[in-house]
Amino acid sequence: EDHRLRRIASSIRVIPEFPKPGILFQDITTLLLDPEAFRDTIDMFVERYRDKEISVVAGIEARGFIFGPPIALAIGAKFVPMRKPKKLPGEVISEEYSLEYGTDKMEMHVGAVEAGDRALVIDDLIATGGTLAAAMRLLGGFSSTDRVGAEVVECACVIELPELKGRDKLGGRPLFVLVKAV
Ligand code: PRP
Ligand code: MG
Repeated sequence: EDHRLRRIASSIRVIPEFPKPGILFQDITTLLLDPEAFRDTIDMFVERYRDKEISVVAGIEARGFIFGPPIALAIGAKFVPMRKPKKLPGEVISEEYSLEYGTDKMEMHVGAVEAGDRALVIDDLIATGGTLAAAMRLLGGFSSTDRVGAEVVECACVIELPELKGRDKLGGRPLFVLVKAV
């Protein structure tokens, strides 16, 4: 366990001052270059979720699209993309969330997730938590009478930046991470 987590953690490249001064960027593209670390990452999520009766894996564009689909296939769940605005062709529901400057929007196809679905939300990283909180609001993760009314079983990320306290934006809902950045 420790050996897998150490390999995953050390495969993530840290790039200072990207995309702007003062930011220490956690680059998961180097994890993807290490097939053993990538495999271990997917396996650790699959081991955690395979017996949890997850019916849908919701992956957040863009980097949640890398980790979500292999997990969905392995646990036999449908995969639903949570996209940036104006990318999905069908009818959508959307949710705004705040960024450092201004706001962004996340969209999901109507009907892709239904009341009664048991969802796992996947992204690569939680920083301020705004992105995952928006996904939770779209899915109905904060209240079963919200939006589509799915049950969000858990949110899961490869990396957490604990200093930014993004976890607090999830209102105590479960968040699972493999690596905590220091
Ligand atoms: C990054 C990261 C998470 C989000 C976390 O995505 O992949 O999705 O930021 O930030 P937060 O917890 O402060 O909301 P980004 O929006 O940069 O885009 P990308 O995944 O499309 O590269
Ligand atoms: Mg992202």
